[in-house]
Amino acid sequence: MNKEHIKVYSDGNTGVIELHRPKAANALNRRMVDEIVEQMEAFDRDKTIRVIVVKGNSKAFAAGADIEEMMEDSPLSLEFTNPFAVWDKMMLIKKPMIAAVNGFALGGGFELALHCDLIVAAEDAKFGFPEVNLGVMPGAGGTQLLTKAMGRAKALEWIWLGQPMDAQEAKHYGVINRVVAPELVEEEALRLAEQLSEQAPVSLRLIKEAVHEAVNTPLQDGLTLERKNFYLAFASQDQKEGMKAFTEKRRPSFKGV
Ligand code: HXC
Repeated sequence: MNKEHIKVYSDGNTGVIELHRPKAANALNRRMVDEIVEQMEAFDRDKTIRVIVVKGNSKAFAAGADIEEMMEDSPLSLEFTNPFAVWDKMMLIKKPMIAAVNGFALGGGFELALHCDLIVAAEDAKFGFPEVNLGVMPGAGGTQLLTKAMGRAKALEWIWLGQPMDAQEAKHYGVINRVVAPELVEEEALRLAEQLSEQAPVSLRLIKEAVHEAVNTPLQDGLTLERKNFYLAFASQDQKEGMKAFTEKRRPSFKGV
């Protein structure tokens, strides 16, 4: 697919997806979401890429789903278009994903950030679910992901009121990871990505699966999966290398196999 609404590049072992619909505050139309997910999947398969960063521009990460595209939808048009199937695929990306957020992350834009594993944001970034103001509600996982991140009471207040929350508050509630000056967001996200790129890739993906499992299943199921993944890590050469390097008091060199 020709990329109409995103730009794609790499920085060392980091694959970067830049949302690029500047005239519409990076509002996510369906083609754009298809392009984003297609690129995430391509990076996920690409052996030279270890971490994926998703970013917007200085004004907006993404201002939500494209309201103009959505406004004539009906329950049946949504049923037949099935616009959320592609979001399910985003959940299956195995590599670490970092959202680098400047400006607005609203509605579907916030949901896109919440589908990433870590969020780095500018001091003046704004996160929110304004759907209530449009007479709808979050639809791409927002109610579930936000509630799991911050708890029921605060999530309800936030989504019900539809007011944006600033980055410090979002960090205080554990929804985002790091807050930096606006001009340092991309640099900080890439630095974090580079740090992760030095970790054993097999470990990273197994840990991601296990931590997601902790959020999504009863504890005992999560513990069983964690144990299975712990055993599986021992199938990798990186486990051998990592432990050997420790005993030899040197830095490990991980290959991702
Ligand atoms: C379509 C959008 C848009 C959106 C902004 N634009 N957000 N177009 N869908 N979600 C367009 C504007 O119409 C305008 O186009 C241009 O982008 C710039 O926006 P302005 O409003 O002029 O800029 P500003 O005054 O700086 O305000 C920025 C903003 C505001 C705070 C982000 O645009 C806003 O409130 N947007 C809507 C946010 C929202 O409600 N998101 C939730 C959508 S529902 P023109 O042509 O006039 O220049 C949703 C459901 C998710 O996300 C379901 C699952 C995917």
